[in-house]
Order: sequence, then C-alpha cells, then structure tokens
Amino acid sequence: MRPITSLLRSSAAAALLVLAACANGPAVASGGNELRLEPAPINRLDEESLQRGARTFVNYCLNCHTAKYMRYSRLTDIGLTEAQIRDNLMFATDKIGETMTVAMPAIDAKGWFGAPPPDLSVEARIRGSDWLYNYFLGFYKDDGTPSGWNNLVFPNVAMPHVLWVQGGINRLQTTEYEDHEKAQAAAIAVRQLVMVAPAAGDAVEVRTLVPETPGTMKPEEYRAMVADLVNYLDYMGEPARNQRINVGLAVLIFLGVLFLFAYLLKREYWRDVH
Ligand code: HEC
Repeated sequence: MRPITSLLRSSAAAALLVLAACANGPAVASGGNELRLEPAPINRLDEESLQRGARTFVNYCLNCHTAKYMRYSRLTDIGLTEAQIRDNLMFATDKIGETMTVAMPAIDAKGWFGAPPPDLSVEARIRGSDWLYNYFLGFYKDDGTPSGWNNLVFPNVAMPHVLWVQGGINRLQTTEYEDHEKAQAAAIAVRQLVMVAPAAGDAVEVRTLVPETPGTMKPEEYRAMVADLVNYLDYMGEPARNQRINVGLAVLIFLGVLFLFAYLLKREYWRDVH
C-alpha cells in the first residue's frame, strides 16, 4: 500500500496540472482537437446592447427554441416599457406575464432536425459566453450534412445557420503542418476562431473559416450583432445579476462616502490630543 503522504502529493500534483491546463489561455480541448476561441466582447450592464440582443433572440431563435424560465414582463429589467415589449418583442403570445415558449412541439422538431432544439434559458451558464459567441462565428457550408451546414465549435450540429443572410457563407479551410508546435504557432497567428486537430500520421491540421459569399452585414457589424445576442443570452441565464451588481456598486459608493465622514470626524476628535 502507498503511504498516505505520497498519495496526497500525487493528487496535489494532478490538481496543479489541471489548474495549469485551465490557465493556458482560451484554448478548449474537444476529443483530441483544440479550439482557440475569440473572447466575446460583451457588457451585461449595457442596456441598449441587451435590448438589441433580445430583439434578435425573439426574431430568430424563438421559432425553434424556448426560454421557458424567462417571462416577457421581466424585460422591463433591461430598460424596456411594457408597451415596447408588447409592440416589438411579442409574436408568440399576447400575455406579458407569459414565458418565452414556442409553437413548434419538441417531437416535430426532433423529427425535422434529428435533434430537439434545447431550451435556451440558462444556455449561457452551460456553455459560457465565449463558446456561444464563437458558435455563431463558427458556421460553415458543408454539403455532407443533412442541413447543409456544419460548425467548427459544435461539429455536425443539427441547427442550420439561421443568421447566414446577415453573416454570409463561410467555407472551411484546412492547412497541414508537420508537427504540433508549427500548427500551434500558425493557429495563434490567425487571431480568430481556429481549430488545431490531429491529421494523418504525425501531421497536424489547422482549420479556419474563410468567407465565400458576403452577408448583408459587414463582418464587424455581424460580430456586433452576435455579441449583443450573446450578451442577452448571458443576461437571461441570470437576470438578477444586474440588480446585484448595481446594489453592490451603490453599497461601495455609500461606504466610500461614510469613510470620508468617519475620517473627518476622527481628525476632529484627535485635533486637541496632538
Ligand atoms: C430552425 C430551427 C432553429 C432556429 C431558428 C435556431 N435554432 Fe438553435 N438549435 C436548433 C437545433 C435543432 C439544435 C440542436 C442541435 C444539435 O443538438 O445537434 C440547436 C442548438 C442550439 C444551440 C446548442 C445547444 C447546446 O448546447 O447543445 C444553441 C446555443 C442554439 N441552438 C442557439 C440558437 C440561437 C441563439 C438562435 C437564434 C439566433 C437559434 N439557436 C435558432 C434549431 C434552431
């Protein structure tokens, strides 16, 4: 039997290794493949961005997905009035207290797409906002899949690229390098979503997307739209967090002012002593 100290030491070493792997930048491993994600440029206190994101969400996502833990009335949180919500965002229902459900029954959806569209209420907490941002940058044309689309971040996803009109059509570009080190260096130089994957023999591939047909939006406009959408998904995963941040800020400001008065009072008390 191994002494308990050596066991402890090896598990501590393992924990350190895991930590080191996590700290190693935005690379995400998936089955031998390594993804380098672009950081999502989002700010959950930016109400205008959240409003634009909510609009994209109800227009392009609620046809298939639900957000059944999210009530329309809650959108007053992000600076909208009930009338604005009713007039601009409610297509599926006329009751403002209703949750974001969808007309398509899950069973049909599974039949049509091969996989049911999951509920998106807490999706940002499952996948994280960087993953989601890159998911919408990661679609490319692939004639080998049933939908005609594939995704670098979610290989063989059943969801079609629903924002292709705006984002345009991308193709996959694969470049082979003789070893992992060269491929890594090339991947870092790309400075956008990229995958490093093992190829035949010792070779390593770098997969990136290249535009084939431009969309109605410029690439930076499309990225901004996707960032707003991801910002909204992130907000929806935990709507109360904005309130907590605001309360926290108010408390800090209050403490700052209190400190100033306490300090002045202390100086007043000690003036006669010194
Ligand atoms: C045409 C129907 C359809 C539309 C519209 C649609 N999706 Fe999907 N979506 C799907 C299907 C089907 C899946 C399941 C894919 C799978 O598991 O392979 C999916 C999966 C996803 C996933 C991955 C879920 C996971 O973690 O496994 C996300 C995130 C997502 N959709 C977000 C969105 C957003 C945001 C929009 C709006 C811009 C949207 N979808 C619009 C059909 C749709």
